[in-house]
Amino acid sequence: MADYLRALVAALIGISFLFLLLLLRQRKKSRSYEKRLPPGEMGFPWIGETLDFYRALQKNTLFEDFIAPRIQTHGKTFKTRIMGSPTIVVNGAEANRFFLSNEFKLVVSSWPASAVQLMGVNSIMEKSGEQHRLVRSILTTCLGNTGLEALVPKICSVVKGHLDKNWGHCNQQDEKIISLYKTAKFLSFRVTCECLFEMGGEDEVLFECFEKVLEGVFSPVVHLPGTSFWRAKRARAVIEKVLLKLVREKRLKMMEEQTRSSSSLSLSLLSRLVGAMVRGEITEVEVVDNIVLLIFAAHDTSSFAIAMTFKMLSLNPHCYSLLLQEHNKIRSKKTKEGENLTMEDVTKMNYTWQVARESIRLFPPIFGSFRRAITDVNFDGFTIPKGWKVLWTAYGTHFSEEYFKDPMRFDPKRFEDPISPYVFVGFGGGPRVCAGYQLAKLNILIFVHLVVTRYDWSLVQPNETIVMDPLPFPSQGMPLKVSPKI
Ligand SMILES: *[C@@H]1O[C@H](CO)[C@@H](O)[C@H](O)[C@H]1NC(C)=O
Ligand SMILES: *[C@@H]1O[C@H](CO)[C@@H](O)[C@H](O)[C@H]1NC(C)=O
Ligand SMILES: *[C@@H]1O[C@H](CO)[C@@H](O)[C@H](O)[C@H]1NC(C)=O
Repeated sequence: MADYLRALVAALIGISFLFLLLLLRQRKKSRSYEKRLPPGEMGFPWIGETLDFYRALQKNTLFEDFIAPRIQTHGKTFKTRIMGSPTIVVNGAEANRFFLSNEFKLVVSSWPASAVQLMGVNSIMEKSGEQHRLVRSILTTCLGNTGLEALVPKICSVVKGHLDKNWGHCNQQDEKIISLYKTAKFLSFRVTCECLFEMGGEDEVLFECFEKVLEGVFSPVVHLPGTSFWRAKRARAVIEKVLLKLVREKRLKMMEEQTRSSSSLSLSLLSRLVGAMVRGEITEVEVVDNIVLLIFAAHDTSSFAIAMTFKMLSLNPHCYSLLLQEHNKIRSKKTKEGENLTMEDVTKMNYTWQVARESIRLFPPIFGSFRRAITDVNFDGFTIPKGWKVLWTAYGTHFSEEYFKDPMRFDPKRFEDPISPYVFVGFGGGPRVCAGYQLAKLNILIFVHLVVTRYDWSLVQPNETIVMDPLPFPSQGMPLKVSPKI
């Protein structure tokens, strides 16, 4: 009997022990990521949902075809796998705030290898900490409101010169068809080159090179003749040569001037970057790579914003007449023929800036970006494992009823009152917020002013589709019928 009891007790103890072990294992397992990853489909190994993602991206329906259906099934935070990387897609102002403001602490920006190689491994895109801060502070000084004041008449005269030459003068009454997108792109490029980097001359050639580089930015890194990456790499070599020459000449000039007088206060972005180089704070390749990055960042995005602003004006005649009033009022104050705009004039273009931001809300030039978790990140009740990618998009707030009532409707008045931070993210946010925000604003407002006050215009193809490769653009280049106003 005693033996039987002893055996029973032993068995019970054994069983409880096993049970305890199982329980502990269970708890340990639930503490691992498996239980706390967001819902979502990872798809097949490596390929995952890459095809769906790219198909939607190309049609510029990333939100409608990829994100929205997954939000519907899984919620605002979900997992997927894109191009071999397990990725968490996040949506909403809280997500934007969390991931954009924790740059460097919890996440770092993560670009495809091709983009890094073509933009340059030494640009601030790839830098964090002190090196990022240093270049960034040079940019903010130059591209801040005061730094830009002197640029307004300059930008104005570059744009006016181009329009007179290519769109027709007020004494020629012929109608022309021009590509608005191409014009805006070329002009934003010229403004950046001339006003920030004191470049002129080789414009057209350099512009074509930048176009070729862009075509390779999101292509596979293949070093074989004929591939778009290879063509882009060769174009980049040409750009590099031009810029190296520019930087070296500037350096010589600055050295000479310094020996003559110590109060040389040339304030262009180029002089400031070269100045930092002379002081040994940054290297020559860093200067070149940052110039490449800045020219890219400036022209491809403002041009799309400009194109979409005109598209929306054309589709909303009521808004156009309000906008036109604003500009006619500014113009009527100008007495001299061909007088340049000033910063004061630009600050009066409030309604135009509402229209532009509303257009950017509906058609963000940069749809969002990838980050990489540098540690396990807790967000929205889930754990994002170290090394995984995070994708935040502008659509997550711009197209959400939660932040914008009737979100797909065009209504510039939404921007009459200040918008909460991280809701309108057309220019990003956090430590990597667009440094060229003010310059982009000037570019857009001055261009709109000069076009609407000097030309009658209409879209040739009101239904033109927007495609992406790798940035969004109007598929036909947005042909516009223009004729000079008398
Ligand atoms: C407009 O600004 C440009 C560049 O600063 C200058 O060359 C031009 O003379 C100005 N035009 C007028 C009419 O003041
Ligand atoms: C434009 O907006 C600024 C600041 O938001 C304001 O101070 C100014 O009065 C506005 N100007 C006009 C013409 O409405
Ligand atoms: C453009 O789209 C509208 C509505 O989507 C349609 O009614 C119109 O016929 C289209 N026009 C052309 C030229 O395709």
